Amino acid sequence: MRVLGIESSCDDCSVAVLSFEQGWSGKPDILSMCSHSQVALHHPYGGIVPEVASRDHLDQIFPVLQAALDQAGVKLSDIDLIAVTNRPGLVGSLLIGVTLAKSLHILHKIPVIPVHHLEGHLISPYLSNQDIPLPSVTLLVSGGHTELHLVKAAPHEWPSDFFSTSRLGRSRDDAAGEAFDKTAKQLGLPYPGGLYLDREAKLGDPAAFAFPRALGAKDTLDFSFSGLKTAVSDTITKMGPAAVQERFADLSASIQEAIVDALLRKTKLALEQTQAQSLCIVGGVAANSRLRARMRDELTVPVFTPEPVYCTDNAAMIALAGAARYFQFGALKPEAVFALNAHSAAKQ
Ligand code: KG4
Ligand code: ZN
Repeated sequence: MRVLGIESSCDDCSVAVLSFEQGWSGKPDILSMCSHSQVALHHPYGGIVPEVASRDHLDQIFPVLQAALDQAGVKLSDIDLIAVTNRPGLVGSLLIGVTLAKSLHILHKIPVIPVHHLEGHLISPYLSNQDIPLPSVTLLVSGGHTELHLVKAAPHEWPSDFFSTSRLGRSRDDAAGEAFDKTAKQLGLPYPGGLYLDREAKLGDPAAFAFPRALGAKDTLDFSFSGLKTAVSDTITKMGPAAVQERFADLSASIQEAIVDALLRKTKLALEQTQAQSLCIVGGVAANSRLRARMRDELTVPVFTPEPVYCTDNAAMIALAGAARYFQFGALKPEAVFALNAHSAAKQ
């Protein structure tokens, strides 16, 4: 079975072709994945501008589709299933992918399955490893979400409401990705802040500044990051521009350490409470070098993280999530494909 994945929920336009030769049991072959990042386009604004994002998806989606088909050496007539992200995200951006999927369904009669973007992130470790010891805790750290999930079964057995029913805890305010992006912006770093802060932090002392670790001592598996940006803003104002430049690397390392510490504490607690056998870290922030190193050094269970290209938004994880659903529930009926729409909210 060949699955075409389409991802356009935010600022990455991505199409992938995956092949499943042995149903769910074998590792999928990623025949191709082509992505167009809008980072340079949004750079002058210091963040994502939704209208700019959707217009660029409209420009890019056909060339990206063609490139993914060419790279895989397949034609649309070789595709057995289309998996498309339809929530959550920027509605204007999601609509481009959803409309492409519906059009291909009408023209080529290819079955369609909608995919919850965050379920795509949750399944992403399975792109390279099918043998993750269960039960497993997954730390989901994307740009807009910071959550802990308990994974008790292989993906082709996940219930239809998996994303909401597997949740152990979540951020009560900002996501870790937002904390990275907002504090990086305060320091004058470009978007996406997490990536640049990670680079700057390598040269600094993580213990130089004591930024808050909210909810750290509490028994909850929830997170809170909104206090961090206030603390960073106060520190920057008190220091003044010259001192900030002088201590730039120390500030970066200390901000990163506060975020990583908070993620680590709650992850350890979740592993203890659930007696899980492994940890997966997924989403854009999973690419953070300090987070990856400390998780591997300080945890006793095996840690699985997708390759960096599958941590950030990508169509391969969407194709895999679509296939897992298809093996269990089948594709949408044609009338449901016609009724398919895009939704900004994460609710399933
Ligand atoms: O999962 P993702 O690509 O998009 C969403 O679905 O939101 O995550 C984007 C987030 C941004 O907040 C970005 O700053 C962060 O991932 N990010 C990082 C790193 N690379 C990307 N954060 C920390 N360290 C990194 N190396
Ligand atoms: Zn994402």
